[in-house]
Amino acid sequence: MTTTSSAPGKVYLFGEHAVVYGEPAVPCAIERRAHVTVSERDDDRLRVSAGDLSIDGFTVEYSGATDDAPDVDVPAPIVEAAMGYVDEAVEQARDAANAPGAGFDVEIDSEIPLGAGLGSSAAVVVAGIDAATRELGVHIDARELADRAYQVEHEVQDGQASRADTFCSAMGGAVRVEGDDCTTIGAPDLPFVVGYDGTSHDTGELVAGVGALREEFGFAADTVSAIGDLVRRGEAALADGDVETLGRLMDVNHGLLSALGVSARTLDNMVWAARDGGAVGAKLTGAGGGGSIVALDDGDGAETALSLTPDCEEAFRAELAEEGVRAE
Ligand code: MEV
Repeated sequence: MTTTSSAPGKVYLFGEHAVVYGEPAVPCAIERRAHVTVSERDDDRLRVSAGDLSIDGFTVEYSGATDDAPDVDVPAPIVEAAMGYVDEAVEQARDAANAPGAGFDVEIDSEIPLGAGLGSSAAVVVAGIDAATRELGVHIDARELADRAYQVEHEVQDGQASRADTFCSAMGGAVRVEGDDCTTIGAPDLPFVVGYDGTSHDTGELVAGVGALREEFGFAADTVSAIGDLVRRGEAALADGDVETLGRLMDVNHGLLSALGVSARTLDNMVWAARDGGAVGAKLTGAGGGGSIVALDDGDGAETALSLTPDCEEAFRAELAEEGVRAE
């Protein structure tokens, strides 16, 4: 038998990084999905092929421990991290189905570039747990899936992960996460535009970098709480459908993330290109270090400006994904 599930990627309207320290965040699922197909094997091995995990495309033929990950044209730590997520997702499925010896062939087909700040790992983990548990004849609901996927990110990111990415990918829509408190919230149809610089970065390292900065300098802890204050203002603007204020707060959020050391020249250039093109606001999205920005623009200007920016490999309009994880 084979079983396929898909789950959406996401952009952060506000609050990445600060959410790791208990501040609220508002990620929104977008209509770019990771599809994971699993078939149960006769033995207890795990074989993963991942055709389109990066925008350039690469193939991983992998079995067993993460140090078997082969040499491909995505940085090795990113591939190892990706394989770590798959390993742990399969562990969660074995646990949920009470099948500790289950082995799988896993095929990942993702429209979300890997390590690009668009929630590829959460989407793969959520879809992977769902597909593997269903393959073993067990159904778990989206909230339990979100919880199990969070355990995976927590494990792979050395204990420094929030529930935001995995909850958003499992549930779909716009969500609010503050510590263990996760809810889906209403949102107007936001005109998201994404710019992606074509690079991959390790979330765990970036999260650890913010942690080190917080330990070294008090201002970094204050910056994290300033992001929390900004998110609370942003929630009110979201409830009012006040897109202008949302945009202004996104600009401030980008500045605060820069202060935490997680922006990059490519991200800054894309943020400015989007603003110059007419976006009401723009910020990096996800862990940063490179990767993606998200802007709000209901015209074509930001997308056009991004596509003319040398640092931007791909620019696209992103629809809010109302549906989270689903069987395919
Ligand atoms: C990464 O997509 C978002 C971070 O806030 C990490 C996390 O929430 O686990 C940087």
